[in-house]
This record gives sequence, structure tokens and C-alpha cells, in this order.
Amino acid sequence: MGDTISAPKGVPEYLPPESATWLAVKEALARPATLAGYGYIELPIFEDTSLYVRGVGESTDVVSKEMYTFNDRGDRSLTLRPEGTAGVMRSVIEHRLDRGQLPVKLWYAGPFFRAERPQHGRYRQLQQFGLEAIGSDDPALDAEVVAIADAGFRSLGLTGYRLEITSLGCRECRPAYRARLVAFLDGLDLDEATRERAHINPLRVLDDKRPEVIAQLAGAPLMLDHLCAACAEHFAAVTGLLDAHGVAYVVNPRMVRGLDYYTRTTFEFVHDGLGAQSGIGGGGRYDGLMTELGGQELSGIGFGLGLDRTFLACQAEGLQVGPASPLDVYVVPLGAARERAPMLVAELRAAGLRTDQVYGERGLKGAMKQADRSGAPYVVVVGERDLAEGVAQVKSMDTGDQVAVPLDEVVNHLKEKQ
Ligand code: HAM
Repeated sequence: MGDTISAPKGVPEYLPPESATWLAVKEALARPATLAGYGYIELPIFEDTSLYVRGVGESTDVVSKEMYTFNDRGDRSLTLRPEGTAGVMRSVIEHRLDRGQLPVKLWYAGPFFRAERPQHGRYRQLQQFGLEAIGSDDPALDAEVVAIADAGFRSLGLTGYRLEITSLGCRECRPAYRARLVAFLDGLDLDEATRERAHINPLRVLDDKRPEVIAQLAGAPLMLDHLCAACAEHFAAVTGLLDAHGVAYVVNPRMVRGLDYYTRTTFEFVHDGLGAQSGIGGGGRYDGLMTELGGQELSGIGFGLGLDRTFLACQAEGLQVGPASPLDVYVVPLGAARERAPMLVAELRAAGLRTDQVYGERGLKGAMKQADRSGAPYVVVVGERDLAEGVAQVKSMDTGDQVAVPLDEVVNHLKEKQ
């Protein structure tokens, strides 16, 4: 016999019964998006490497350190998708969706890949539910996108999270702010590597976690205080609409996102019960991304919600998400009744009841043990004598009560219990 094989490091798996919660999380997050007219898009899991280099940004950790890149047999450089926005843009441009009605509204879900150091809530294969709305810079769209994410989290019953929001400005106001920030950082007592970083991506220095750096950053200029009039007006409109939507938020002018394409509205959902990996979702507007990828000059906004972390957040809050039991009914046929059982099971399933049965020759005791383990609240026992009398014994596993029900009324009897 060969050695057993484990899943690769940092790759989570969801097995029954937890996987039912996982599916319910995904469906709950997607529902508000479908209600708001977002269409589903199924995208490739790998793309041309240059898509991420150009779209996400060469100086980001995601692109410079975390990509799973390989050459295929035709010597093309391909990369397992580390995020979804660049792929959506590529597809929208390639299939000319941006020539139709705007905004183009799309949602997606599935695995993404980042070679990060694995820890609780940080995986190398992560899953997101995401959406993108392309072709309008109306602040109503910003507020809608944020409200959809919030509605999804709330529909799961989550309460232990907060929404942080800021504006990262635009190509009018950001360069001047950037110069101001670089000048400020140049005046600080920083190590060589951080100094260099300050010139490549100064915003990222604001995210430094070392106390000696944090202390020096207290007086750093903030983008939010240096927005141009148009960006300031846009941000005020977005926060005003969030108030109207009843979506609570805190303005965090020091937010730093891990991807380079963000402009204007930028946000993160942070959960308090997850430890270091507390971001359960994030997103924002990206005004230059379409042109960077060879498309028209169109603005877009979207988010990615972490399914793995949302699942963990539901667990941390002790929420019951998805069905309380994996089955509604379990059928236990005995002796000659075993021939009749598959038809009864099929009728129950056709009536929408999640039904399973005991297989093989089993005594009553062993079969009832299986029924108990199945988690179904109702068990239908059909013995030989029942069959002769045209009845089945319907037992409630909660109360232990058992009633004889005519075989052709079993489906209706159980349907009424739903
Ligand atoms: P992101 O912030 O890189 O944004 O990822 C979104 C979410 O995915 C995070 O908030 C987190 O919940 C989850 N996530 C990221 N990395 C990991 C990991 N290693 N393990 C587990 N969960 C993880 C984006 O990906 C953007 N594409 C979102 C977006 C869409 N912005 C605009 N449109």
C-alpha cells in the first residue's frame, strides 16, 4: 500500500456537515447582488501573467511575492488568479460588454490563489464572493455596492464587524498628496528599506506595524484632508447615501489596501472575532484600471468578500447558518419492505423532502442507530407487517412519538410537518 497523501499546505477543505454552512454562506452573500441586477460571470482560474502585473500592480505583495506563476507547454507565462477584478475587466473588454448598457454589473465566486504564509484565516487557496459594477461614477453606485456587502453579512446574522471607509483621491489630487507624503516620510528617522519603500509606494508605509514607525507617523498628511473638490464632493455623497441606507461605517483615513488599482471610495469590513486576519471583505473604486488593460476610460467599483473568513466569523459568533440538519426524513425498511422502500424514498424526494434510507440487510436496532446518526428529525419505519397493513410507522426523533400512517399518505403527512 502506498503512503497517504495530504492536501497541500495552507489549503482549507470543507467537509460535511460544515460544508453545508459553507454553501449557505456563499448563497447568502450572493443573494443581495442578484436582487440588485448583478449577472453571474464564470471566469478562468488562470490568466496571462501580464494581466496581474499590469492590473494589480508590480509593487504589490500580491504580484511581487505571492503569485503562483508557471509556464505552460507552449512556454506562455500563466498565473493562478490571485484576485478577481483584473479578470473581470479583461473579460469585459474582450467581449465588449462595455459597449452595451452601463453600468455593467457582474458577480463571481470561487477560488483565488496567493502564496502567503498560512495561518488561521489566511490560506493559499482562498475563496471570495465578489462583484464589479463598471461604467458609472455615480456615488449611488458606490453606496449600493457597499450596502450589498453589508446586507449579505447581516443576512447571516453577523453583528461583530465594522465597515471602514475612506477616499484615496484621483489622478488630479493624488500626485500632489503623494509628493507631500514622500516629503514628510523623508524627514523621518526610518531604516533604509522603509525609506526605499516610501519612494516606491509611500501609502504602504502608513500601514507599518512597528511601534517606532507608528509613533513617527502620528502627524503624517492624510489623503482625506487633501482631496480635490470633486473627490471631496463624491465622498460626501457616498457617506450621505450610506446614512440614508442605514449602513453604519467608520471613516478610516489611514486604510491601506493591498492592491494598487484603487481610487476614490475604498472600504474594508473588519471582524473582531478573527484575530490577526480580521478583514472579511474589501473593495473600492478603480478609475484607471480599464485603460491600463487597454479598454475604454470607464470607472468601476466592486468588492471581494472572503468566504473562508466569513465562515469563520459565523462560527466565532456561534451562528446557525444553513439547514439545522442535513436530512428531513430517514427511511428504514425491514425484510420484504426493502423492495418498496426506494419508491417511497423517491416520492419523498420528489415532494422536496431531503430523504435518505438505510441500505443493505439490517436488523431494527442497527437500522435505528443509523437513523439516529443521520440527523433526520423524522424516521419512517416500514416492517413486513406494516407493509401487509398498508402503513408505515412515522417516528419523531425529537419527541419519540410514533404514529401509523397509511403508505400513500406518508408524503403529505411529512410535508405538513415542514
Ligand atoms: P482583497 O482585499 O485582496 O481584495 O481580498 C478580499 C477579501 O478576500 C479579503 O477581505 C479577505 O476576506 C479575503 N482574502 C484575501 N486573502 C486571503 C487569504 N490569503 N486567505 C483567506 N482570505 C483571504 C480583492 O481581492 C479585490 N479583488 C476586491 C475588489 C473587487 N476590489 C474591487 N473589486
